[in-house]
Amino acid sequence: MESRAGGGVKRAARGRLGNVSGLGYHGPSEVLMVSLSSRLGPTLCALGAAAILLAPGEARAADDDIHWFSPGLILSLSFGDKINFGLGLDARYSLLFAGETNCFSSERRAIGAFAQASWLNFSAAGRFAAGIHGGGEIERGGFGVNGEVGWTYRTALSEFHPGGHGIHAGIGGIGGQIVDVFFRGTIPLLGDDGRKPEFTVAVGAHFPPMYGEPGICDIGRRLRMNGRFVLPGVAGAPRRGRARSGKIDEATRAALVSAWQGDARGECASIPAFLALARDLAAVGAPRDLVDRALASAADEVRHTELCASIAGDLASMTFAPDLLPPPRRSGLDRTRELSRLCIESWEDGCLGEGAAAERARRQARGAKEPGIGAALGAIASDEARHAELGWRVVEWCLSEGGRPVREALGEAVAASPEGPAREEAPEAEASAWRGYGRIGQHDIDAAWEQNLGLARNTAEGMLRASG
Ligand SMILES: [Fe+2]
Ligand SMILES: [Fe+2]
Repeated sequence: MESRAGGGVKRAARGRLGNVSGLGYHGPSEVLMVSLSSRLGPTLCALGAAAILLAPGEARAADDDIHWFSPGLILSLSFGDKINFGLGLDARYSLLFAGETNCFSSERRAIGAFAQASWLNFSAAGRFAAGIHGGGEIERGGFGVNGEVGWTYRTALSEFHPGGHGIHAGIGGIGGQIVDVFFRGTIPLLGDDGRKPEFTVAVGAHFPPMYGEPGICDIGRRLRMNGRFVLPGVAGAPRRGRARSGKIDEATRAALVSAWQGDARGECASIPAFLALARDLAAVGAPRDLVDRALASAADEVRHTELCASIAGDLASMTFAPDLLPPPRRSGLDRTRELSRLCIESWEDGCLGEGAAAERARRQARGAKEPGIGAALGAIASDEARHAELGWRVVEWCLSEGGRPVREALGEAVAASPEGPAREEAPEAEASAWRGYGRIGQHDIDAAWEQNLGLARNTAEGMLRASG
């Protein structure tokens, strides 16, 4: 009679040897499969983990809008050899191949790699999986579907429930949302010791969400490079003399510097964006007035950059200057498509973005108490209103020149334009100083966006009716 310990060793040996002696010898091909499975399992798990760890640095920082690293926690319940409760980690790298994380983006789609590790039943048992995943949102920023396939390895649950390798497949709802639900199946590989397939239901939470954080509506005219939005970096050096006076705590001062510096970068990005607009309008034969106004707008954005950088610099006792980026290359589209592109971009960046920027600057100016800041914001507000007006004129001209294709493209863009305004991280700042130095809270930011969006939609729908 064999001892329990002896039986365990033999069962383990059978697992490793793939039933060569225990359940019958099935031929050299199965031995080969078993041998491959025992090597490939850990190898593929390691490859999945390596794909995540080797993802580009910016992916892990989650500051690039096509690479996302999304760690998460999962709770699972598995049904198979026995019912197992799992508590685990799920890390995903996703590469967006459709859509972006800005608020005008269409539904996002991604492929990538995942790695999971779960602790089972609060015991010494665990389950590991790695592989590839892919899917996309069904609605923008909302629910999505994602599938995954890979390799899994579960350690023994007890001496009666041996562990082993398996094929892992799953489908679930995951995407723009933080919380996800997954259904997963594990098929034990040939040669493992009588294990049943396992079915798992898992609930997880990933942050940032797998396809990145929900889109942010930038305001003002944005710089697009290869279909993506870019912002310049900023250079800075300490300067002599005291920082702008005023009793503000350090956290508030830092938040103000960061906010005004961010505005300087956005304004500076608008300079090449307007130069490109002037160039592209000239290339499709736009009236000279439109081209001249685009060039003049680039000059306005130089002033806005200087105003915002100097407010940030005064607060920090630094001299700041953003990099001037080059204008994007010509699109290479035929004239009709180019007219559609110019029309849509002017709708998004001019009618919506700069219209909201004008309203926002007006609200900022109203609360500004510090010398010079209210005047700077007043000047920015009236310039941005003029830029929004230019956006409307470009839309109007493109509609009249491009006919039906442009009308249809604009109709789609107006219907899809975002309900949600720009979201900003709540600053750690004292409220009255924040307003006094020309900043506003999320409520005013939302209101500025919504007020402009409502008016802009009505105007665009009127234009579409008139042009139809
Ligand atoms: Fe501006
Ligand atoms: Fe502008």
